[in-house]
Amino acid sequence: MTSPTPRVVSGIQPSGTIHLGNYFGAIRQHIALQDTHPGDAFYFIADYHALTTVRDPAVLRAHVFDSALTYLALGLDPARATLFRQSDVPEVTELAWLLATVTGMGLLERAHSYKDKLANNITPSVGLFFYPVLMAADILAHDGTLVPVGKDQLQHVEMAQDMATHFNEAYGRDPPVLYRPEPLPAKAAVVPGLDGRKMSKSYDNSLLLFESGKPLRKRVGQIVTDSTPLGEPLPFATCNVVALLRLFCDDAELAAIETYYRDGRRDGAPFGYGHAKLLLAEKIEQHFAPARARREQLLTPAGRAEIEAVLTRGAQRARAVASATLARCRRACGLR
Ligand code: TYM
Repeated sequence: MTSPTPRVVSGIQPSGTIHLGNYFGAIRQHIALQDTHPGDAFYFIADYHALTTVRDPAVLRAHVFDSALTYLALGLDPARATLFRQSDVPEVTELAWLLATVTGMGLLERAHSYKDKLANNITPSVGLFFYPVLMAADILAHDGTLVPVGKDQLQHVEMAQDMATHFNEAYGRDPPVLYRPEPLPAKAAVVPGLDGRKMSKSYDNSLLLFESGKPLRKRVGQIVTDSTPLGEPLPFATCNVVALLRLFCDDAELAAIETYYRDGRRDGAPFGYGHAKLLLAEKIEQHFAPARARREQLLTPAGRAEIEAVLTRGAQRARAVASATLARCRRACGLR
């Protein structure tokens, strides 16, 4: 069963600065979906989730602000999309508890992201284990039926589907108490970081959206490549720089770059990884130039006040939906 109007719901953790993986995996879609679902696109900054890793209040506040700033600079329109802080809607944590009571331990033990953390020797808190339940509550509290996320989050959305089903099986299928969410995976593959692993705030392998000039070139220079000497043919299919160039280049540009790689030359001159990296740095800089300019404007005192106002209004709208959902759930379970 789906809700009467499709509702887009997604979130991002303010656990670091937003990177190219977040943009191509999720945010680009979020902005586009405000055109197709005006009034029904809900995006939040998942600060409750970030508490599983960020322990410094000033750092958390700075990342929350920077996330809102980035969305607005990239074109989020508060008239069509609702942007809010997760923790401004505390109903979400109450729903998480209700969902936890119908969720088996086995479901959570199968979570890839949790297993990855264990494999990386991170001692898990209960919060980290519980993370997918809170994420399901985010989606279900706001009656989310479409969840645009990168491929790494698909399993979590499937878990939210399971939790909605279990809750409805326990407390009412017809009409359903909770609506079934469908993932909307990004077309872009998982974006690799400098070291070829998934680009992630926790691996220090990110390329940021608004870096430019020398610092950007320096960072791009750190992308790991093999040691093919300048002027020799380069491996196009497996190159990390190419994987990132694919995000910015059209087919014709990629075909040209493929010939430079195959020949180890461009316009008769030797072509190596350094040249490919320069191309990438230029692409990143150009692509985000308009957003960088909007970001500067928002960094004034008036801009800061506007961001705070957007988040406050967003929370009011989101809370109206979440409190109606919670009232439905509480009634269904027999709570007053
Ligand atoms: P987070 O903050 O890790 O990432 C935000 C979004 O960016 C996508 N993403 C990527 N996509 C492609 N390649 C990458 N390297 C890459 N890195 C990140 C993620 O898939 C995500 O869509 N648990 C979520 C936040 C969250 C949420 C939710 C999302 C909390 N509640 C409810 C959707 C619905 C997270 O940690 O995303």
